Amino acid sequence: MDMHYLKPISNINGMKILSVVGARPNFMKIAPFIRAIEKYNEHAKDSIQHILVHTGQHYDKNMSDTFFETLRIPFPDINLEIGSGSHAEQVGKTMIALEKVFIEQNPDWVVVVGDVNATLAASVTAKKLHIRVAHIEAGLRSRDEKMPEEINRLVTDRLSDLLLTPDKISSRNLRDEGVPERKISFVGNIMIDTLEENRQQAENLVIEKIIKDNSLNNKSKEKFDSFALMTMHRPSNVDKKEILEPIIDFLLNEVSEDQDLIWPIHPRTSAKLRKFGLWDKVVECDNLYLLSPLGYHEMLKLNMSAKIVLTDSGGLQEECTVLGTPCLTLRWNTERPVTLRKYGGVSVLVGNDINKIRKEYQRTINLDRKPDRPELWDGKTADRIVESIVNFE
Ligand code: UD1
Repeated sequence: MDMHYLKPISNINGMKILSVVGARPNFMKIAPFIRAIEKYNEHAKDSIQHILVHTGQHYDKNMSDTFFETLRIPFPDINLEIGSGSHAEQVGKTMIALEKVFIEQNPDWVVVVGDVNATLAASVTAKKLHIRVAHIEAGLRSRDEKMPEEINRLVTDRLSDLLLTPDKISSRNLRDEGVPERKISFVGNIMIDTLEENRQQAENLVIEKIIKDNSLNNKSKEKFDSFALMTMHRPSNVDKKEILEPIIDFLLNEVSEDQDLIWPIHPRTSAKLRKFGLWDKVVECDNLYLLSPLGYHEMLKLNMSAKIVLTDSGGLQEECTVLGTPCLTLRWNTERPVTLRKYGGVSVLVGNDINKIRKEYQRTINLDRKPDRPELWDGKTADRIVESIVNFE
């Protein structure tokens, strides 16, 4: 299906869309979608009614509320306040709560985003109630079924009626799995809508102030020159001491010896560092600036200025691609191959083997920025998504 621009359709009868979000990486994907609906409604004869449900999987202010405020996402109509728990607990509780909401709201479509537990819970629950499901960011595959996110993607895509893909590789993955062509719509990457919309505001921030305001180890500096930016939260990297500790030693003994290292830390990772007795040495390391989880603009500003990014986050890999920041991806595989250097992107997979990380770090550290823009990563994806949903037959 080729999407060009948003055309209001006059023959729909007050469509009702219910979107479900749960965790931090969902928020930057839903914000432009909601704005595209508002834009559609300005011209459409029959407007779309939109209901936003937050499952509450992420609940800390700086993992959730901050994003609603800065990305101008309307206050959720419903918050399920599911919170933390094992996977089965999170998914189970979310399904029980969502079933009631879906029956009560009776939407024409449930829209799910990304690959978190809320995505899985919402797609299964909606499907069993015979409600159509649209999946934003469909078709990504890491081929690693040990990743909870891969299970969430596989189930969600198998059940979805409309699969909105960010790139052509993802569309091809779906075709290879036998998904009928009429269900697949290549719309581009909605994360980049958010990036483009917020680029200027991020640009205006001051790095030194970001560090000072968010420091967890009371470190600040008058002027940052070259610095490395780090994020890490995947269970495969942080849940086992024998994997986490060598990474920490590499960061402390090698990266931070070379240059300043800025690390906004995920709650899962700080909990593990404490549990494994590694927290103190991280906090005390001279050139390491440990920060609480940052807001969207703050993170974008740091990414725009970093010499290198080390991360296991998929979203950050994509942002690095468009900004051109050389990136080491601390994973053995990726569901986002377009971000890799071999496909024109900026990132290289280094897993969690220290020799490999070291080798690629040394190769990457002197690379220049090289922005790349995969097809339809143009900031207009949300409009194409609304058009795809409205035109779906
Ligand atoms: C989830 C997503 C992952 C995404 C990541 C981004 C799934 C399967 N995983 O992983 O795809 O990349 O979010 O952040 O859905 N916690 C807090 N405060 C919060 C949220 C979580 O302290 O606001 C703590 C929880 O108590 C838990 C840990 O952080 O101990 C992990 O949270 P959880 O929701 O299980 O998954 P993430 O690791 O964040």
